[in-house]
Amino acid sequence: MISKEIREKYLNFFKERGHAVVPSSSLIPDDPSVLLTTAGMQQFKPYFVGKADPMKDFGSFNTASIQKSFRTSDIDEVGDERHLTFFEMLGNFSFGGYFKQEAIAYAHDFLTKELGLTIQYVTVFEGDEQVPADDESARIWKGVDSFVEIKKAGRADNFWGPTGKEGPCGPTTEIYIANTEIWNIVFNEYYCRSDGTLENLKTPGVDTGMGLERLAMVAQAKQSIFQTDLFEPLLSLLSDVADERKKRIIADHARAIAFLISDGVRPSNKGAGYILRRLMRRVIAYGYEAESILQRVVQLYGMPYSELKEDVILQEFRNEKEKFQKALEQGVKEIEKMNVITAPVAFQMYQSFGVPFEVTKEFGGTRAQSLTRDDFEKEFAKHQEISRAGRERKFGGHGLLLDTGELKAANEEELKIVTRLHTATHLLQASLRKVLGDGVRQAGSDITAERTRFDFTFPRKLTPDEIRDVEQVLNGAIEGDLNVEFREMPFEEARATGALYSPKEKYPSRVKVYSVVDEKTGEVFSREFCGGPHVGHTAEIGRVKIMKEEGVSAGTRRIRAAFL
Ligand code: SER
Repeated sequence: MISKEIREKYLNFFKERGHAVVPSSSLIPDDPSVLLTTAGMQQFKPYFVGKADPMKDFGSFNTASIQKSFRTSDIDEVGDERHLTFFEMLGNFSFGGYFKQEAIAYAHDFLTKELGLTIQYVTVFEGDEQVPADDESARIWKGVDSFVEIKKAGRADNFWGPTGKEGPCGPTTEIYIANTEIWNIVFNEYYCRSDGTLENLKTPGVDTGMGLERLAMVAQAKQSIFQTDLFEPLLSLLSDVADERKKRIIADHARAIAFLISDGVRPSNKGAGYILRRLMRRVIAYGYEAESILQRVVQLYGMPYSELKEDVILQEFRNEKEKFQKALEQGVKEIEKMNVITAPVAFQMYQSFGVPFEVTKEFGGTRAQSLTRDDFEKEFAKHQEISRAGRERKFGGHGLLLDTGELKAANEEELKIVTRLHTATHLLQASLRKVLGDGVRQAGSDITAERTRFDFTFPRKLTPDEIRDVEQVLNGAIEGDLNVEFREMPFEEARATGALYSPKEKYPSRVKVYSVVDEKTGEVFSREFCGGPHVGHTAEIGRVKIMKEEGVSAGTRRIRAAFL
């Protein structure tokens, strides 16, 4: 069964059972607290926690999707039989429509009846001091398949939730076929707080995730995901690469590179851009004809992923290659001179030549045997601390922690306040334009922990009614708890989004655009060119009041606003 059929069968199976089929969201998540989309449930978080209404948005309490996903945590595993960075995740979800009985029966029927596979065994949560054992799931499994072997496991394997952050969570049941974990079914009964405490969710939900590549592997009776039709056409182009592991890494990274670029990520030294850069540089360092693989990726995945554009992907890859080629040669020469490659050396390679850890590790061969990613990261963190300390010294130890010209904060506490006021300032500009018209443009802004001061173009004094209206629109947006998100993109592209910017200012070729969006309606309340920082959600701001409105010069007004 080819993978195209598996995708179709999956979505049809759930559609026939009352699920709304929802398109994949972007690899760049709306939630600014995560770097890349790692699971299908991410776009549905507001429905799990009762912040959005699935009936209104999907016409059903149940959805199904095939989500583009990326797991940085698996990067060192890539090259074995079944790990990937980028993968497609099949998932069905319920927000109060059904729970354990249906979720388990659906999974069982899809695998055994629809695909004709044999389940090897399943696992259920064994319970611990915080959460009881999931005997109910074990009972349900016995009911749907009296022959199935049920194993029990603890937190590490059978409990899913956000790490170090807040979010829906709960016990899981996992399905294994041919010694491979195929399907993870999460019963979101709780909301996990970042301190580890749990609260019951009002409506328990279902979140499932099944990697298409692993499913294709067992459905096509292959030993590795790289032998499936999702990868075979890529690997066949690499017949001159002797090392099987390298072939797999190139194929995995090529897919990831193509998909990341298509969702708007560009190579950089931070965040998602840095992940992309590392993947690109590793492939470049191998020195094989990577462009033909990227082309093949587009041919192979252009259906159903029409966002994959060959010219953009190749151009970005060539640009990065041009930047990195020379430094790589110098870096490799340095590596060759060393007898032992330690973490400080690896960091130096990164710092001076932009050579990523994995490349240094591989090119170092036996001389880098004892080099670990952990030690490298420690070295990295040490360096960041040193440069932060340097910045603090520059401000005399009690100077400013943050000074962007627009925002000033002396310590962490002030930083939090000016961040809230900064988002409030964006909302203020949008509110002024909604009340007074599009003639209003920012003419200056200065934000301290006491207040935001905002200058804007407008020909006359505001009436008390106008001030009250602006305040109402502004606080309405705060109470509505709108989502604050940003994208980095080329200047021209940013301008085309209609984002506000200052024609007088000089911008770099790539800029950040911050949007304040109502998740429920998709309405964009505010969109501006901006370097940040901002809050994640507008309710974090709290109520704001306009303290003063005055003229500063002909045609320019000034508002001071502060927290109530
Ligand atoms: N969120 C779970 C996972 O990622 C199930 O989708 O495994």
